[in-house]
Parts: sequence; structure tokens; C-alpha cells
Amino acid sequence: MDFDQKLAETISLLKKISDEFQPAVFANSYGAEDMVLTHLISQHALNIQIFSLDTGRLPAETYSLMQKVEETYPSHQVKVYFPETAATEAWVKENGINGFYNSVEQRKSCCAVRKIGPLKRALANNKAWITGLRREQSPTRTNLGYQEFDADNGLEKFNPLIEWTEKEVWAYIRANNIPYNELHDKFYPSIGCAPCTRSIAMGEDVRAGRWWWENPENKECGLHVKKI
Ligand code: ADX
Ligand code: SF4
Repeated sequence: MDFDQKLAETISLLKKISDEFQPAVFANSYGAEDMVLTHLISQHALNIQIFSLDTGRLPAETYSLMQKVEETYPSHQVKVYFPETAATEAWVKENGINGFYNSVEQRKSCCAVRKIGPLKRALANNKAWITGLRREQSPTRTNLGYQEFDADNGLEKFNPLIEWTEKEVWAYIRANNIPYNELHDKFYPSIGCAPCTRSIAMGEDVRAGRWWWENPENKECGLHVKKI
């Protein structure tokens, strides 16, 4: 499939979600893929609420971009969800402020408090959610399609950029002058929380800088993991 076809499919899928799956939401992490989707949703004036999960540990560059997005796309104000105060305080008391480095379990429980809890609130009472997942990104994402039923959360899940390559994402961002996280220019292809993301070296996998101390098969925070 050439790029023009891919773009046309992405746009027609977003329009279909906007028309047929109401209410629908888009999970925006402010990564490069999500900036493409933010742009398309705004450009086509789609009826899709954009939300973001602010874990409280995001890099300063992501907050700068959040503000830029507010100014660039005023028609689609991003709804920001925060972790629950009591659960966050209890986690820090038990594990220490950076306790996620100690074990995979502690890392996952931090993600559960700071990301999954807020995600559940963001998805409640919606018919569909949209992500910026791409198949190429990770061994855990190779079997994904454009659409699947998310049984754990009880709604339809759409991945409109699933077929896009990293090159196509960047060509589209440049061609349309879309704002993006300045960390991408400093060898951070994939950006999450500040303490759990680092830059990568030439030739390394795009997600090598995420939870770099863990094995690749563990490297999902739970937002996109199915319970078996
Ligand atoms: S993660 O699971 O490793 O954190 P990744 O950063 O690749 O995910 O992002 C994949 C998709 O998950 C994004 O395109 C976005 O749809 C969603 N997502 C990830 N982090 C967030 C966040 N903090 N807020 C909203 N959506 C997010
Ligand atoms: Fe916690 Fe790191 Fe997960 Fe962010 S990515 S929620 S800091 S473990």
C-alpha cells in the first residue's frame, strides 16, 4: 500500500469512528504518532475527545508541547487525567519515590497507579478509543490490526496508524508543520515518563530507551496488554 492510500484509510477510519462510534476518545501521549492523529482530528473537525494521562513524572519537554498543542489546536482541547492522590501517596510510601527501578513488579505497579487507573476513568462510558500504536514499534505489537474489541475495558479499540512506518510519520509531520516533542530531535524516538525513558544510540530499536533496564518482552506499561 502506498502512503497516499494509507493516509486515505486512516482518515476514513477516523471519520467512521466519529460518525458511528459515539462517544469516542483518543489517547494522546504527545509522541510523534499522536501528534499526527491530533492534527488529523482537528483538521477534519471530528467528534472525538482527545485525552492525555499525566503521570506526574513526564519530561519538561512534554509539558512544553502540551501547551503548544493548546495554542495550535484550540478546537480540540485535550482533557488531562491525573493519578488518584491517595493511591499515588501509598505507592510512594511503600516503594520509595523511584521504586520502579527495583523490580518489574514495582515498575508495573507504578504504571498501574499512574497510568492504568486514570486510563480506566478516561475510557469509562465510551464506545471507542483510538491509539497511535504502530505495528513496527515492538515485538508485542506485530499482531495488531486497525480495529479490535478491547474486552478488558469493554469498548472498541482503533489503531489508525497501525500500518504507518516511522519514516511516513516524520514525513507527514514535516510536510504539515505539525508541532512535536523536542526530545525527538535528541535521539528519543519513543517518549514516556522522564525517569523511565532515555535516548537511544544509532541502530538501536525505537523503544530501546523505554524501561531500558528491562527485557523487551516486559516493555509494556499495561495500557495495551490483554489479560489472558
Ligand atoms: S506505552 O504503553 O509504551 O506507554 P507508547 O508510549 O508506545 O505506549 O504509546 C502507545 C499509545 O498509547 C499512544 O499512541 C497513545 O495512544 C497511548 N498512550 C501512551 N501513553 C499515554 C499517555 N500518557 N496518555 C495518553 N495516551 C497514552
Ligand atoms: Fe511509573 Fe515509570 Fe510507569 Fe511512569 S513509566 S508510571 S514513572 S514506572
